[in-house]
Amino acid sequence: MTPLLELTGIVKLFGGLRALDHADFAVQPSEVMALVGDNGAGKSTLIKVICGAYAPDDGTMRLRGAPVSFAAPQQATDAGIATIYQELALAGKMSVADNIFLGRELINRRFGVPFLARRTMRARAEALLRQLDVHIPDLDVWAEQLSGGQRQGLAIARAMNMDADLIIMDEPTAALAVAEARKVLNFITQLRANGKSVVLISHNIQDVFQVADRVTVMRHGAAIAVRRVAASAPEEIVGLITGAGQVRATFGAGHSGQSRQEQLESEV
Ligand SMILES: Nc1ncnc2c1ncn2[C@@H]1O[C@H](COP(=O)(O)OP(=O)(O)OP(=O)(O)O)[C@@H](O)[C@H]1O
Ligand SMILES: [Mg+2]
Repeated sequence: MTPLLELTGIVKLFGGLRALDHADFAVQPSEVMALVGDNGAGKSTLIKVICGAYAPDDGTMRLRGAPVSFAAPQQATDAGIATIYQELALAGKMSVADNIFLGRELINRRFGVPFLARRTMRARAEALLRQLDVHIPDLDVWAEQLSGGQRQGLAIARAMNMDADLIIMDEPTAALAVAEARKVLNFITQLRANGKSVVLISHNIQDVFQVADRVTVMRHGAAIAVRRVAASAPEEIVGLITGAGQVRATFGAGHSGQSRQEQLESEV
């Protein structure tokens, strides 16, 4: 199957620091891919390359099989990649309904005069939140008045409204209570059921095992292993993250004709 997204040999330098050192990463359609690794492993940097915030110093990126490079985040959004940053980037002093359509307001025209299609936007916002089982009693409250879990739900509804094929979430449950975290995990499952792919960055291995199909482990700026969650165990992933269980795979040039991604997946 052609991956929805495929990165090969991505390098990102910050001065003398190699934040990404030939990182490989792939996500299939309708797949939840977890991205794990220690602090500083390069996860957020990799995500910022994918979403067009950073230009890589080397490497290639393919979307639906075609080479792409994003000069700005808007280009990634237009290509169907929505990123939910940890800080969420919601407009605190705007209503729930307005946040969902922020930057993509629906416009009606009457006698050539444009005006906001408020009723349509509101109905669509309600439908999206219902679909995601996000309970926000009053869509007119400001986003900053919502709980952490409601805010995550709103950010995910907004990503869904962008009609993205790939939704990237950087630590979506880190600041949440157990019940709200569970809800966010449910949102992720919902997205996959709707045919979307999700990249989930998390330090919570339980969360990863609950919702992900596969997990990519990063260390020192590179992906060192890809595992199918159903065929792995939390202890194995923790061992890979800390380096206790695994040495970094070496990729011989042209070795056995396998791609680096295939080697990552078959290694061990
Ligand atoms: N804008 C930047 N300028 C300089 N160095 C950076 C920048 N962003 C990240 N780095 C460095 O690149 C490395 C990778 O950082 P990154 O934020 O990608 O790690 P991470 O895996 O997301 O870690 P965490 O789990 O703590 O969020 C780190 O050594 C970090 O200090
Ligand atoms: Mg990070």
